[in-house]
Amino acid sequence: MPELDPGLALSMLVRRIVVQVLGSEYADVDPQVRLSDRADLQADLALGLAKRTKRKPREIADDLAKALAADANDLVEKVEVAGPGFLNVTLRATWLARAANSAVADARVGVPEAGKKDRVVIDYSHPNVAKEMHVGHLRSTVIGDSLARLLSFRGHTVLRQNHIGDWGTPFGMLIEHLNDLGDAAAERDLALGELAAFYKAARAKFDSDATFADRARSRVVLLQSGDGDTLARWRTLVALSTRYFETVYAKLDVTLRHDDIKGESFYNPMLQPLADELEKSGAAKISDGALCLFPKGFSNKEGDPLPLIVQKTDKGFGYATTDLAAIRHRAKDLRATRILYVVGAPQTQHLAMIFEAAKELSWLPEGTHAEHVAFGSVLGTDKRMFKTRSGDTVRLVDLIDEAIDRATEVVKEKAPDLPEDEQRLVGQMVGVGSIKYADLSSDRVKDYVFDIDRMVSFVGNTAGYMQYAYARTRNIFRKGEVSFDHQSAPIVVEAKAERSLVIALLGFGRAVAAVEETLEPHKLAGYLYGVATAYSTFYDECPVLKSEGAVQASRLSLAKLTAKTLAIGLSLLGISVPERM
Ligand code: ARG
Repeated sequence: MPELDPGLALSMLVRRIVVQVLGSEYADVDPQVRLSDRADLQADLALGLAKRTKRKPREIADDLAKALAADANDLVEKVEVAGPGFLNVTLRATWLARAANSAVADARVGVPEAGKKDRVVIDYSHPNVAKEMHVGHLRSTVIGDSLARLLSFRGHTVLRQNHIGDWGTPFGMLIEHLNDLGDAAAERDLALGELAAFYKAARAKFDSDATFADRARSRVVLLQSGDGDTLARWRTLVALSTRYFETVYAKLDVTLRHDDIKGESFYNPMLQPLADELEKSGAAKISDGALCLFPKGFSNKEGDPLPLIVQKTDKGFGYATTDLAAIRHRAKDLRATRILYVVGAPQTQHLAMIFEAAKELSWLPEGTHAEHVAFGSVLGTDKRMFKTRSGDTVRLVDLIDEAIDRATEVVKEKAPDLPEDEQRLVGQMVGVGSIKYADLSSDRVKDYVFDIDRMVSFVGNTAGYMQYAYARTRNIFRKGEVSFDHQSAPIVVEAKAERSLVIALLGFGRAVAAVEETLEPHKLAGYLYGVATAYSTFYDECPVLKSEGAVQASRLSLAKLTAKTLAIGLSLLGISVPERM
């Protein structure tokens, strides 16, 4: 398929013109193409080129504009030089129409698969057994799942790895608490998602009751030595918790499945051999009694190198050892070429040390990259850490349920004629969509404010607004009694609002590619919001059902392209769209 994105097509063309005018040593220049207020697109490269060539930006812009105007191509209608040397480009309506027609006829609306395919490991969600899932896990789950969907759409092989916290010393006290409660009571508590209470009760006994603490400590030893009974108790705890996590995943409509769980316990048998190997090779050294790696470039305030502890003085293993085993497993056994960790920003240094150690140990083959997809904290509307009034962690399920309830109320109010079961279904889509969209539309590395009122509203950059925009495109077909699936009349680009909408729609591939590269879903959300607002202008300025003949047919096809783009785009964010609302 020839290039459909006018932005990319113009970039390629400008690069060719630059070489023609300035010579092949300028072949690497970034044409800096973006949407323009004055024309369709603008290219801002003349300013940078002026520095390199020591000429005036205006002069260079004039030369490029002249060459562009003289060039035989079917993309550019008109070029004007503006300001300090911007090239303002008006595109040919025939080019735009041809591209729009190819896009609407294509199941992927013209978005190509990636040229080079990766095997991508995505480590995300990773809650802890017998502990409540909190808003940090929500962010990891929502961001990770969106990246998993988008990278699969681009044709990469995606290996989801749910690195749950299912191993370690807390399990001693948790198993003893389970024994005290008895299976039936524990099952009831954990299945209901009262994980925080379960953990807290175990912790309280551990802190106040010395005999319980002793039992817990011996239990850890039994667990680590592989005692059958103890392992069975441990398995019960893990099973109850994961069953609960999976109800949350189902509610949230995320693509994580039971088989994607590969918790810390999976790596446990690898840890001692790994430590032995690192000690023998001399890569790890004993420091203060512990076996440590000292990856390059990390030091404390005093300037001393920071250790990555491989094996503690008491011979125990910690979080770091597991992550070392995990990264090696991902590179060597899973043969990943791109390893993503969707983990909160506080773990930046830890992960950077793991990545550096893996590199120094030659565990990452040439062309394999590990990346930390970091995200900021979730704050309440008071701009403080998101907590309940009593200072407890807010239960994720309660938040999701509240968002669904609130969204259902809004839907009932806005669409009173919809049958009640459909109102509930749409409320669910909007509620879950709201939570996801609020997260994914903000810059992930920044902290974000969890504001349920704003999230479930239908105004501004929200899920409700986007889903409503989609439903509106479908509504035209229902009202006009036109088959959406069979709509295939050619798109012609005439009115200004049609032009802007088409240019917005054709930028989809570029937005997807930007997320693939930067792992920043807000770039896609921002793009889709642009499409929705362009559609809204089109809807106001260009009557569809009230127009006639070829104009009406073209506008219907344009509404169809908008619908397909919004539906696919939102699905890559994990958001469903209702046919009406
Ligand atoms: N379970 C951890 C937590 O809740 C996150 C694990 C992140 N993944 C990893 N490979 N370290 O904070």
